[in-house]
Amino acid sequence: MEFKTKKLLHGGDYNPEQWLDCPDILEKDLDMLTEAGCNVVTLGVFSWSTLEPEEGRFCFDWLENIINKLYERGISVILATPSGARPKWLADKYPEVLRVDSERKRALFGFRHNHCYTSPVYREKTAIINRKLAERFGNHPAVILWHISNEYGGECHCPLCQDAFRKWLKERYHTIEELNKRWCTTFWSHTYNSFDQIESPSPIGETQLHALNLDWKRFVSYQTTDFIKAEIHALREGGSKLPTTANLMYYFNGLNYFELAKAIDVVSWDTYPTWHKQEVIETAYDNGMCHDLMRSLKRKPFFQMESCPTSTNWQGISKLKKPGVLFAQSMQAIAHGGEGALYFQIRQSRGASEKFHGAVIDHYGGTDTRVFREVCHTGSALDKISELAGSNVKSAVALLYDWDSQWAMEDSQGPRNKGLHYKEALLKYYRGFRKLGLNVDLVDMTGDLTDYKILAAPMCYMFRNGFEEKVRKFVKNGGIFVATYWSGIVDDTDRCFLGGVPHGLMDVLGIRSMEIDGLYDWEKNSLIPVSDNLLGLDRTYTCKYLCDLVELRGAEAVMTYGDDFYAGYPALTVNAYGDGQAWYVAADAEKEFQVEFLRRIAEKAGISCGVEGEIPEGLEITTRENSEATYYIYQNWGSQTVEIPLPKGEIQTLYGETEKGLEPYGLAVLKV
Ligand code: GAL
Ligand code: ZN
Repeated sequence: MEFKTKKLLHGGDYNPEQWLDCPDILEKDLDMLTEAGCNVVTLGVFSWSTLEPEEGRFCFDWLENIINKLYERGISVILATPSGARPKWLADKYPEVLRVDSERKRALFGFRHNHCYTSPVYREKTAIINRKLAERFGNHPAVILWHISNEYGGECHCPLCQDAFRKWLKERYHTIEELNKRWCTTFWSHTYNSFDQIESPSPIGETQLHALNLDWKRFVSYQTTDFIKAEIHALREGGSKLPTTANLMYYFNGLNYFELAKAIDVVSWDTYPTWHKQEVIETAYDNGMCHDLMRSLKRKPFFQMESCPTSTNWQGISKLKKPGVLFAQSMQAIAHGGEGALYFQIRQSRGASEKFHGAVIDHYGGTDTRVFREVCHTGSALDKISELAGSNVKSAVALLYDWDSQWAMEDSQGPRNKGLHYKEALLKYYRGFRKLGLNVDLVDMTGDLTDYKILAAPMCYMFRNGFEEKVRKFVKNGGIFVATYWSGIVDDTDRCFLGGVPHGLMDVLGIRSMEIDGLYDWEKNSLIPVSDNLLGLDRTYTCKYLCDLVELRGAEAVMTYGDDFYAGYPALTVNAYGDGQAWYVAADAEKEFQVEFLRRIAEKAGISCGVEGEIPEGLEITTRENSEATYYIYQNWGSQTVEIPLPKGEIQTLYGETEKGLEPYGLAVLKV
């Protein structure tokens, strides 16, 4: 099902159930929502105990009343299913819905996001209320989208989940012999005689079979997605045809989002960057990369479901968002292909654990607050650029990000148990491309590579079945492939490849990785350019953490190591293969290396974002396009006003003053 909006969405999570005894406050909220230019709210995320106060007694009138009032004001509703937090009566009567942790201890009632995904009772109770919500509101003209539960995550080790895990394994391996072989269970005599003997990983049991750990993670992801499908199925049974979303989380490690995204119609996510902790632009790259990941999950527009209007109350330091940051953060979601920027939350709760969390309307309750004014400003800007709704982000560059590979790599005991710095490595490549104003997609190993000109795959530890063939074809057909140290080491059950690595690509890359050196935190090596190298690189860069020792098998060395017993060994190599080129970066180089290296590669290949002149420091450029135009979106994350480099063609200004330069946290949108 397609999710299409004519306008960019602006609004957020709203919890009127906390204020049902204050009708005057609810009335005032409506006025304030209108004043802030909000066109949507999310309702019902944690409303189960108000919607069904006792088993089988449903109270939906209050919700209908609010939906109607919002509708009268032209405000749409994203309606949640309430499974994110269950009522007490449910937990008391059916304890099987409570999660069991990895030490096999069952939780008491409390908190949220902590139900068993397998429990037939929980699935049934969720299905009943979802069906009823769909019957009552699934065709209400205000309701535009289903918000399935809230921030799925976590795992349960109860007997029901153990059984489901065994069943899942049996479907995957068919025989116990095959499982033993793929999991390498003869190691430490951990061989299984039957599927019934298998237990999920536990600190008081098995943790050393890496393939078990990996399959457990895959199972948790599968089972959670299956739960989502069951929730959606119930909505369909209730007669609703509306599209669905689930609010995902920042690089969340616990679920394979590429798989989960297949179950929903539109991706949304909750973003809580810690601004001002480092240079603002660095946080913007980190947040931008996550936007790009979310967009890439379905290669379709997504939206920002939650963000804090000012400080949160759960981070180590509750930093206020400085003036302009709320606006800039919201606009970044749009720049990267988002269909809207929503907040958590509209009205600040009065008690319990989030009473000091930032909100559009705080305990004071007036419109004369700094935050409220910024929300209004953001709302009016979103309105002005609303023609961006439905336009797409097209990228020539893909960055590989694969959950299975990351799970396996982070679990394996290897060259650097003290920290592999994987996400930092990814970010260095991302930053290098973004400094050129290039859009970037993130793809996993199942992704289609045909539209890309460059594929960068830092630390691609696992080669899932057939990946090397896909890369070979990509390079053969003219693609530029950038691989790094610690790649192509294991297969998809984390068994090491025999006969040399990077597996299956030694001829494409023209090298073999022989050994890898883990460096102490304080240690450094360096990458020195080879004279007259084909990229014209002329600076020495430091590297840390991991240094791969490679032998040349046809590739050319472009840089070499400066220190240690491997001084002079190749550190950056290139090999021509088919119509393309395969690069190998042997070490974790400082971030200025990627900037220079990727700039030169892109220039040589004639890949650019289309603006003329230098892109100043701190300026982010993203493009979105539709059948009529390409939109150049500029955001200034620096502290000085900067001039913006213009694209070629006939330019119309959709937002911002381009002649005077772009002020800090400012936005400019040009239509070409
Ligand atoms: C999100 C969650 C919201 C709220 C928010 C606070 O992770 O979905 O319900 O708790 O955090 O920042
Ligand atoms: Zn369970």
